Order: sequence, then structure tokens, then C-alpha cells
Amino acid sequence: EGFPGERLFNQGYSYTYDDVIFHPGYIDFPTDGINLCTKLSRNIPLSIPCVASPMDTVTETSMAVGMAALGGIGIVHYNNTVSQQASIIHNAKSHRIPFNADLLFASSNDTIHSIDEFANSPCIFVTESGNNDSKILGFVTKSNWEKWSNKEARISDYMNNCPITLPSSDNFEDVAGFIASKNLDFVPLVNEKDGQVVNLVTAADLERIKSLPKLGLPSLGKDGKFLVGAAVGTRESDKERWEHLVKEGINALVIDSSQGNSLYQIDMIKYVKNTYPHLDVIGGNVVTMYQAENLIKQGVDGLRVGMGSGSICTTQEVCAVGRGQATAVYKVSSIAEQHGVPVIADGGISNSGHIVKALSLGASTVMMGSFLAGSNETPGTYVYQNGLRMKKYRGMGSLEAMTKGSDARYLGDTAKLKIAQGVVGSVADKGSVLKFVPYTMQAVKQGFQDLGASSVQSAHHLLRSGELRLEVRTGAAQVEGGVHGLVGYEKKYF
Ligand code: XMP
Repeated sequence: EGFPGERLFNQGYSYTYDDVIFHPGYIDFPTDGINLCTKLSRNIPLSIPCVASPMDTVTETSMAVGMAALGGIGIVHYNNTVSQQASIIHNAKSHRIPFNADLLFASSNDTIHSIDEFANSPCIFVTESGNNDSKILGFVTKSNWEKWSNKEARISDYMNNCPITLPSSDNFEDVAGFIASKNLDFVPLVNEKDGQVVNLVTAADLERIKSLPKLGLPSLGKDGKFLVGAAVGTRESDKERWEHLVKEGINALVIDSSQGNSLYQIDMIKYVKNTYPHLDVIGGNVVTMYQAENLIKQGVDGLRVGMGSGSICTTQEVCAVGRGQATAVYKVSSIAEQHGVPVIADGGISNSGHIVKALSLGASTVMMGSFLAGSNETPGTYVYQNGLRMKKYRGMGSLEAMTKGSDARYLGDTAKLKIAQGVVGSVADKGSVLKFVPYTMQAVKQGFQDLGASSVQSAHHLLRSGELRLEVRTGAAQVEGGVHGLVGYEKKYF
């Protein structure tokens, strides 16, 4: 019954994840027996197959920290200056606690007029300039301010001058133990080098983290710090960027291009492999075996697969090139696997079923933009639109993003006229990745159990041996496979 992958994907059709459906296999293990450990690239093991995309509305410090704490990894975007990208990586690597608080600063000469100025933070930090650019001098809590009757007074009159702080390199257990032993409401974590505050941990945060579902081990490098990746383009000037990022200790270098089979990328792979032989280099994006082979020959340690499948992408409409993501992942991974190169299925993930499909079609990890967008860990602030709490999510090839420099990915080195290959949109508040990613992984495990795959490797074995049977879903079958015939309903998974 059904077709093996080899037959289904060799008929001249380009299939998306939604086009295909798997037949159930044989279950002889519990979901707890399923192991989602995998590899981002040749030498980077992960506990979960999740990668945050290098997009400026997805991955900066907070997302990189959150993903690494969960056992995945975040790839920091480069739509910023070299020093901004380096400092995001530096901050992510100096964290041991899987979240990042919004910090407020003022100078000792300032006046706090209203309790609203504290927003959601328990305190306002005081520095010489009023910005987060030097050692903290003290802080003011909401209760300091409430107790002080003269609301026109300067902060210096009632601030707390001797803040108790902890080094930002302390891990979760150290901080939790300290807060409990001293009965504190919160403690600032400071950068050991210059005394700048990098995070604020409250007793309530620690309780919240303890109550979240546990996954595997966090992603830590040999130095004991969180694993962090970074993307960079293929311009000559990007070589200098690499140097700064490598100094900050990045673990994976992603060469970012929407069409990776190019002279520019091949030159860059050669350069990076020669200059930083100890680092894993991920090439892409590719969607065909031919493209993949060209990059594998240059020694890439991982391949990023997808062209035009992302939720914000218009590449296929604008340029008429690309491939259905299910076909692209199947084809590229079939060649990459022969060379021991892990594949990252990039884009087009909008539910846990898509993750099961990507991994079962040969990918080792999935890279996600929209699935993680709108979470607490993404850059940007929430705004209300039609009564819904939303955050911006935009394509790196959108006109808006390209004005900041991301045009290199889509236009190469020399193009003078900018044509967008992406759009700007909003996504609803999803809460924290620390909560919804573990639930998503549980759903992936249920899918693996139905298939009879106890690990990512065993899913790959089922595919290559032909035991995994697939079919294409007709339009009607796709409708039947989703919720149908209901007037009003709410999709809630946990
Ligand atoms: P999802 O579906 O997860 O896709 O939102 C994220 C991936 O989409 C790619 N990307 C783009 N592709 N135009 C494109 O054609 C764009 O503006 C754009 N921005 C991001 C990228 O591979 C990302 O990981």
C-alpha cells in the first residue's frame, strides 16, 4: 500500500508538507521511549530538532538563550551592525537562565512621576547616564517609590545604593538557591567585566520556569556556555563580521543566501573553512541535489533547505524558482545523508505535523520563523490590533527589512534596484517558547510513535528502507484532514 519516498518523489511533481501524508507504522514503544536528539551540523549535537531562523523579528539574545536552554539553537540575524550582532551573541553566551527580562534605566537626577513608569518590571536601575551603558549605581523598586511622599523628588533621594547582584554566568540552580536563601523578590545579573546589568530574575520567574515541562539537556558548548549560531552574507566585507563573531565564541556559521549555489557562496565556504577549521559551516539555501552536491564538495557541515516555502516569502511568485518543501527536503537529504551532512528544513513549518514530516523526509532539524514569531522571546514589542495582542513578523527580503541591509541575501552584491521577495505582517502573541516548544515536541513524539520511529535516525531509516509509505492527498483529502463542518471552534493543543 502507498508509495515509498523514492517512488513518490520521482514523478515530476513538487510537493509541500500538506500535499503528503504518511501511513501509520507499528508501535512497540511508549512516547517516553522516543529520543529527538539530533544534529544541527556534523559536529553540533542538539537535544531537540529546533532551530530559530536568522530573522530580525525572530532571533536575538532572548530567542537564542531560550532555544539553547530547550536543547535547540538560535541563529542570530545580521540585519544590524557588526557590533550589534556581536553584542547579541555576547549577551546570549553570558546567560545561564533561559529568559531575558525587559530592563528599565534612569539616572539619579531623574524623577519618577507615576507608577506606570515601572511598566511590568519590579524595579528601575540607576546608572550614571540613565542608559544601560555602565555599571549600575543602584535601583528603585515600586515600593521605594510608593513609600516616598514627595513625588517630585530626585531618584537619588530614595534609591537603594547597594544592590545585591549575581554574575550573569550563574546557572539556574545558583540563582534560585540565592533568591530563596536571601528571601529576595528579585536579583539583577551583571556582566562580570563591567558591572552592567544584563538580566533581572524574579522569584516569580523562577517558580514559572520550574513549572514548565522539561525537555532534554540544554545546548552547551565545550566552554559550558549556551550554543549560539550566527548568519552572515557572502560580501567581501562579511569576512570582517565573521572575525568578530568568532571572537564572541559562536558555534555555527550560517552562510545566508536564498540561492546558495553561487560562486560567492563557494568562495565564502572555502574562506571560512580555511580560516576557522574548528567551526561548523552551514551552507544554503538549496532545494536540489545538484545545488547540494556543489556545496557538499566544498566541505559544508550542514545544509539549509528551502526556497520560497517560508510563510513570508514571495520568491516563487517574483522569481519563478523554488520547490515544494517536502520534495526539496527529501531530495537534498537523500544526497546529503550519503556524505554525513545533516539537513535543516528551513521554512513552511506551521504545525507539529509539519515537523514530523520534515524529519521523516530526511531532515535532521527544522528552522522556524513564523512558528516562533509572536513569542515573548522575539525582538520587538506587542501591539494591539483589533483587540488582539500581536508582534511584527517580516520577511528578510521585504522592502522594510532590506532598507536595513538584509538585501544581500536576496539581491547579491551588486543590484541597485530593490525588488521585494517577502512581506511584513503580524502574528498573535504565543506566550513563551519555553512553554509551547516542549508541548510541540510532545506532539512530534506522538507522530513518531504512530510511524513506528523511536528516534530521528530511525525515522530516516524507515524512509530510506522504503518501510515508510506515503501518499499524496487530494484537495478534498486535505480538507477532510483538517477541522471541517464546524461553524465556530477554537484550536487549542495544550
Ligand atoms: P517560516 O515559514 O518559518 O519561514 O516563516 C522562515 C524562513 O523563510 C525564509 N525567509 C524568506 N524567504 N523572502 C523569502 O523568499 C523573505 O523575505 C524571507 N525572509 C525569510 C528564511 O529561510 C526563513 O528561515
